[in-house]
Amino acid sequence: MTSLPIAAGKVQLREKRLQDAPEDYAWRCDEELATLDATTPLRQPYDEFLRSYEETLLYPSPWSERFAIDTLDGRHIGNCMCYDINTAYGEAEVGIMIGDRDYWSKGYGYHSMVALVDHMFTETSLRKLYLHTLEWNNRARKSFEKCGFVVIRTVSRYGLRLTRMELPRARWLQIREERLADLRQGRTRASNGTSPTSHETGGKPPLT
Ligand SMILES: CC(C)(COP(=O)(O)OP(=O)(O)OC[C@H]1O[C@@H](n2cnc3c(N)ncnc32)[C@H](O)[C@@H]1OP(=O)(O)O)[C@@H](O)C(=O)NCCC(=O)NCCS
Repeated sequence: MTSLPIAAGKVQLREKRLQDAPEDYAWRCDEELATLDATTPLRQPYDEFLRSYEETLLYPSPWSERFAIDTLDGRHIGNCMCYDINTAYGEAEVGIMIGDRDYWSKGYGYHSMVALVDHMFTETSLRKLYLHTLEWNNRARKSFEKCGFVVIRTVSRYGLRLTRMELPRARWLQIREERLADLRQGRTRASNGTSPTSHETGGKPPLT
């Protein structure tokens, strides 16, 4: 088993903890973040949020893995997760949110996603990871393409057009070393990172 935290270039992925609640609450209530995540902002008092937050930490779902994303100096900047883990089909969905805007477009999302994907393909027998992002969210799509995800198709959900992207295990094994080298060298794959081959989000859990 990979031990936590997972050190990954500019970031480290660690277990979620109760002290994350204030940031997570702020991010969940944020209009812009909710829009980018194809959902609606949370409208719930903090004490209620905290109660369900504690419960999720105490009784985590066996079908998901959630991580906080920290900078190397320990600043909590976002979260990522793998959910709807379907061992029968050998696939699962991944999601990420860098909640702290100061860290957008600087490779933190790329490094975090590389770490998450590598962790899931190393620690499980999943054969494919997939994700959905809003069709117009070019920053997100570009970041995921750098990691190796490929656009499969557009899906419509609740009136939103989402891009489905996938990354099969076999493809990850081909590109893994190169991506991990990017992390070691602090690269964000700026110039040559496009994919080599080419919500309301029903059931999508919050990334906080
Ligand atoms: C989506 C997200 C995870 C991406 O992580 P990130 O660290 O910001 O992005 P990265 O630095 O890894 O990659 C972004 C790339 O898109 C580019 N980019 C930024 N804005 C862009 C735009 N409007 N159009 C096209 N490309 C854009 C960046 O220059 C960078 O490419 P480069 O490395 O070739 O220069 C992060 O921005 C985030 O969480 N945003 C808020 C929530 C969100 O959008 N969620 C969507 C989840 S599906």
